[in-house]
Amino acid sequence: MIMCFSGTGNSRFAAEKIAEITGDELVCLNDYMKDGYKGNLVSDKPFVLVCPTYAWRVPLVVERFLETVRLEGSEDMYFVLTCGSSTAGAQKYAMKLCDRLGKNFKGFRTVVMPENYIAMFNVPDKEEAGQIVKEAIPVIGDAAEIIAQGRELTEKIPVFGTVMSTVVNWFFFKFLVKDKGFHLEKECTSCGQCVKLCPVNNIRLEDGKPVWGGNCTHCMACICGCPSECIEYKNASRKRRRYWFGK
Ligand SMILES: Cc1cc2nc3c(=O)[nH]c(=O)nc-3n(C[C@H](O)[C@H](O)[C@H](O)COP(=O)(O)O)c2cc1C
Repeated sequence: MIMCFSGTGNSRFAAEKIAEITGDELVCLNDYMKDGYKGNLVSDKPFVLVCPTYAWRVPLVVERFLETVRLEGSEDMYFVLTCGSSTAGAQKYAMKLCDRLGKNFKGFRTVVMPENYIAMFNVPDKEEAGQIVKEAIPVIGDAAEIIAQGRELTEKIPVFGTVMSTVVNWFFFKFLVKDKGFHLEKECTSCGQCVKLCPVNNIRLEDGKPVWGGNCTHCMACICGCPSECIEYKNASRKRRRYWFGK
């Protein structure tokens, strides 16, 4: 079973490619999270988590979700993380997560995709993004073939990776992942797309305008998926292009 979480479509694309090659069922964790699902996910084939890297680790919301549901059937689990540049020591923490889930760790693959974190960084333009995706396709394909054959997916953990995935990750989630900075600058059409896109149901419309509820994971779906681009984050996003896979 390919289990996908995605804010702006990169991991969704990777998950779809893997599912095409392995022939496995693809489930969208965003939908399960939105519905507050707490039941079982059942698969006879290995579980494959495909998700973005947040502060050099599997996103905290994804870890929490997987620890809430029960993964039944196969004992094996793979991890495919998309990222803007590096997953650093994410593999080490994926192994620990796998252990907590009672699964046998079958391996980890980093897939460099276009950066989407416009709250902090510039994102590539359409042409550059297209080139990055082009280079990612064989990496995804290779991982998918290995998964389809049930082999181990091997990847070395970079020497200084653990620092980023430990100390910096902790600092990041404790102090930086807040939704107070989101606000409107242009006319909002009250289309409700931000409400629909938020995987953690953190946005509601009040008088037709989005209000963030204090439980954000910074996935960038609301700000990047807003059709009128009226959402901004602090002063950081004003001049930045919005990123959405394929757009
Ligand atoms: C909150 C947040 C944290 C991120 N942290 C990292 C990181 O530690 N390393 C990295 O290379 N990219 C990082 N990125 C970039 C994303 O992992 C990358 O663009 C990913 O492919 C986005 O996937 P998605 O479109 O499926 O959401 C981060 C993005 C966000 C929104």
